Amino acid sequence: MEICVIGAGYVGLVTSLGFAKLGNNVICVDIDINKVVSLNNGIPSIYEEGLEDMLIECLEKKNITFSNNIIEGIEKSNVIFIAVGTPEKNDWDIDMSQVYEVISQISNNILNYRLIVIKSTVPIGTQKKVNKIFLENGVSVDSFDIVSNPEFLREGRALHDFFNGDRIIIGCDSLRAKKIMKELYEPFTCEIIYTSPETAELTKYASNAFLASKISFINEIANLCNKVGADIETVAYAMGLDERISPKFLRAGIGYGGSCFPKDTKALVKIGDKHGIDFKIVRGAIEVNEKQRFIPIRILLNKYGSLEKKIITILGLSFKPKTDDIRDSPSLTIIEELIKNNANIKCYDPIAIDKVRNIYSNIMYCYNLYDAIENSDCIIICTEWDEFNSLNLGKIKDSMNYPMIIDGRNMLDGKKVREKGIEYYSIGKSN
Ligand code: UDX
Repeated sequence: MEICVIGAGYVGLVTSLGFAKLGNNVICVDIDINKVVSLNNGIPSIYEEGLEDMLIECLEKKNITFSNNIIEGIEKSNVIFIAVGTPEKNDWDIDMSQVYEVISQISNNILNYRLIVIKSTVPIGTQKKVNKIFLENGVSVDSFDIVSNPEFLREGRALHDFFNGDRIIIGCDSLRAKKIMKELYEPFTCEIIYTSPETAELTKYASNAFLASKISFINEIANLCNKVGADIETVAYAMGLDERISPKFLRAGIGYGGSCFPKDTKALVKIGDKHGIDFKIVRGAIEVNEKQRFIPIRILLNKYGSLEKKIITILGLSFKPKTDDIRDSPSLTIIEELIKNNANIKCYDPIAIDKVRNIYSNIMYCYNLYDAIENSDCIIICTEWDEFNSLNLGKIKDSMNYPMIIDGRNMLDGKKVREKGIEYYSIGKSN
């Protein structure tokens, strides 16, 4: 098929490459000309496992091209995916300006039938609204269909998730659109659910809010473990053996971040408010998550009283491993609190360090893990990068000013750390 994807962010780029890899011809449009030029030269704009190789392969096969000309994209394709950003506004509402700008451009430039697929996470009712805008702009009812097809990919595993998702949800109200979507998703083996646009739109929010609530739930249990001497790892393991609960998403820590959970949970609460539904559980999940990232600061203040001139090392800056994404990362809140407390901060991350360098000027950025640890008064692990599993504890003990680790991701063996004479704190582990 001839496909246009508007937006070359995480979702847009992965969708473009996925469909190109499957043999479709894809034109991916973005307003950022620098991004377009780099991508056409095989240089990815984000870090994502396997993405660079797939980009080069698809460029060589001429299955993909990048452009900043949206009209060209609209003209050359029969299916148009919208994958532009829907950021959070200050009042938890969603900023839909990018989506509506694109909708206006498509509806003003469409000459014959196009299928428009909304991939961006959008408020419930958007498909209907977009449909209305097309008609108001004089596009004939025969010339378009609008489909809701939310994305469930996880950063760090985005390409894997594209090809091996748990399900595909297609919200459409026309047989013509359904037929095209069926053909497009023909190579996929997972269950494909055809439903109403509203159901598809809500499924995305419900899934993310549920997962976020699961994390906040286990984090509250972990906080109680710390008080009563129970072990969160065992509690979570034993809970997870119950098939109805499942062991996934029960990892306690300093909470979730990223571009989806924080934004989508707040958006769902806001959408609920508009319809007179008070989402108490989701509100609670948000509140718990926002507090969770302050735990390391509390531990430090209890230990040292004042953090003035203390050297604190942050290991891991991205909101989770295998990505350079720092959006709403707990590490940033922790850095800001440490700055307020006049601590000296050293940080290390295998991939995301340069992104943080653009934000804070008065902290020390280390490109070697052990440089970041030297003379430190405490290490805070914020992201569970694989390489932190094999820390040389002896070397750490010798090079720190005071041997102390706050394991915000519960990844180390506390017993082994303590045996080396290092003070160890976790989120609810008994050892
Ligand atoms: C999420 C959804 O999983 C995905 O389906 C949706 O499309 C976008 O949002 P992503 O944000 O990439 O994907 O990351 P995910 O792997 O789901 O983790 C989100 C956050 O939860 C991370 O900060 C992670 O550290 C945290 N998390 C996850 C926990 O704290 N504990 C867990 O058990 C699992």
